[in-house]
Amino acid sequence: MEKRLVPPLMEGTLSREGWEQGRRAELLRLLGSEVYGITPKDFEVQFTVTDESEALQGKALRRLVQAQVSGPYGTFTFPFVAFFPKGEGMHPAIIFINNREKHHTDPDRKQPSGFWPVEEMVARGYAAAAFHTWDVDTDCDDGFQNGIERIFEADAASRPDDAWGALGAWAFAASRICDWLLLQPQVDAQHIAVVGHSRGGKTALWCAAQDERIYSAYSSCSGCSGAAVTRGKKGERVAQIVRNFPYWFCKNYRRYAGREEEMPFEQHMLLALCAPRPLYIGSATEDEWADPESEFLSARLAGEAYALYHLQGVAAESMPAPEMPVQAGQIGYHLRTGKHDLTPYDWGLYMDFLDQKIGR
Ligand code: GCU
Repeated sequence: MEKRLVPPLMEGTLSREGWEQGRRAELLRLLGSEVYGITPKDFEVQFTVTDESEALQGKALRRLVQAQVSGPYGTFTFPFVAFFPKGEGMHPAIIFINNREKHHTDPDRKQPSGFWPVEEMVARGYAAAAFHTWDVDTDCDDGFQNGIERIFEADAASRPDDAWGALGAWAFAASRICDWLLLQPQVDAQHIAVVGHSRGGKTALWCAAQDERIYSAYSSCSGCSGAAVTRGKKGERVAQIVRNFPYWFCKNYRRYAGREEEMPFEQHMLLALCAPRPLYIGSATEDEWADPESEFLSARLAGEAYALYHLQGVAAESMPAPEMPVQAGQIGYHLRTGKHDLTPYDWGLYMDFLDQKIGR
């Protein structure tokens, strides 16, 4: 495996006690205060099902839901959709963070989408929920005037340097959908996963790192500030991401532009926070901006945390060839030929991985 100088998961000897009784929480705080911002804890959430109907040619039950979140400075409502396979029994569920056009998660499925192939997911016995990022926080630099952040702040103009950004807000929304799924009798509460692509993949990882009710996360092509190790990374660097997307992060993260070596954290730590839960990383050969090698390296390095639970991380020493998924360990990885995307092929592999880990 390629060697890069990255900070260790723990100073001294990494032990399960040291990890669970201190270091894990410390890393969570560090990634919060330095990268994604601190997630507010003071809120209540209420759900209203606005429609319940048969969908997907009678194969699914569809519910449209409004989540109303109340914070210290107001309320904010966002919609999401959920499809449940028809029939008896409880189903594992997958929450999808839709960062692309809204039509991909259109509840009426007017056009099929390979980005969110819900028909296939339901056919495989998964409940599938999704929200659109813009419904939670606009994916543009609007000074935090319109997104969910505003219900937590007296004044958007004077935000602390560790105040959360859009990635944190989207991760929060995915956790609220998890709240709701846990209340649904059709859902197997032990097996709720979160999936996102690119900025959505960064979000999925941050969500699973913070929310231990999430059984598994799949991060597709998440690259910089997502799955990829930052030190020595090719393609996008911190300087570019904080310049182009400052509102995704807390202000503190800007301090590391061009100074990655000084970061007291690394992205494999984000992945390690998911241990011992099944984690999945996907890359694409032409995605130089995200840098597949740095994504794979991070997955490998996170294996150290899984070893504390006597679990294997990625079951491959070196980067696998395209279309040769590595799924035996608790961290799955595959490289797909092609562009920066999330495709039915990727989804199929992730569901294979989940089926295997859940034992279905
Ligand atoms: C940009 C950004 C990436 C991000 C991607 C996406 O390319 O630089 O960090 O992952 O958008 O979300 O599609």
